[in-house]
Amino acid sequence: IGAVVTIPVVVHVLYNTTAQNVSDAMITAQLDVLNKDFSKTNTDAGLVPTMFAGLAANTNVQFVLAKRTPTGAATTGIVRKQTKVSSWSTNDAVKSSKRGGDDAWDATKYLNLWVCNLGQGLLGYAQFPGGSPATDGVVVLYSSLPGGTAKPYDKGRTATHEVGHWLNLRHIWGDASCGNDLVSDTPTQQTANYGCPAFPHVTCNNQGDMSMNYMDYTDDACMYMFSTGQASRMNALFASGGARAGL
Ligand code: ARG
Ligand code: ZN
Ligand code: CA
Repeated sequence: IGAVVTIPVVVHVLYNTTAQNVSDAMITAQLDVLNKDFSKTNTDAGLVPTMFAGLAANTNVQFVLAKRTPTGAATTGIVRKQTKVSSWSTNDAVKSSKRGGDDAWDATKYLNLWVCNLGQGLLGYAQFPGGSPATDGVVVLYSSLPGGTAKPYDKGRTATHEVGHWLNLRHIWGDASCGNDLVSDTPTQQTANYGCPAFPHVTCNNQGDMSMNYMDYTDDACMYMFSTGQASRMNALFASGGARAGL
């Protein structure tokens, strides 16, 4: 894990109702959650079980609202747009101005974060590295921002989880029964955990699932770590020749 990498973020707010037009304060709070979670300065880091305490990692990745647009003009890093679309899906329409959303900024220079109303109980989705620049980035449900109404997903950790995907992390259960997440220090676990499991929840002959990892499906209050192996996997993207080396 190298020096701190600070990623400029552009937040595209697509709102159909005024409630969906989240405040600047909520967006700032979301960036603060990302910065704390990615630097292991989250206030709940002390809840990591002793078995995993040595694996909890500062990823050295940080986030700041963009100060310049792609053409060099001053910006707050927040783009607000009213839309006729009342609910979005994973079809990437929210990333297209033509379809009622808002076009991505240069994905080699910014993290694009769309905040909008998602349908079908969806909290968020992300594009892995190596995909189309036009759809690169992360989408989160507006009410998942810190202090939002999507309880128990109201502490901003949907963005932490989705940015983890954007930085090449898989779900901790490897999206298969006792699957492989391509990270060696995260124990193999059977499937997704929800809610707030007591530790240890033993599956796949492990000594307990790392259900408090941001890449599980637990409640926001019950996820509070990335592992060292995950931090290395993310940082590999910024090395020369890496998929996100431009950032
Ligand atoms: N990818 C998941 C979804 O689309 C997000 C899981 C977020 N989990 C959380 N505790 N915030 O629903
Ligand atoms: Zn996910
Ligand atoms: Ca693993």
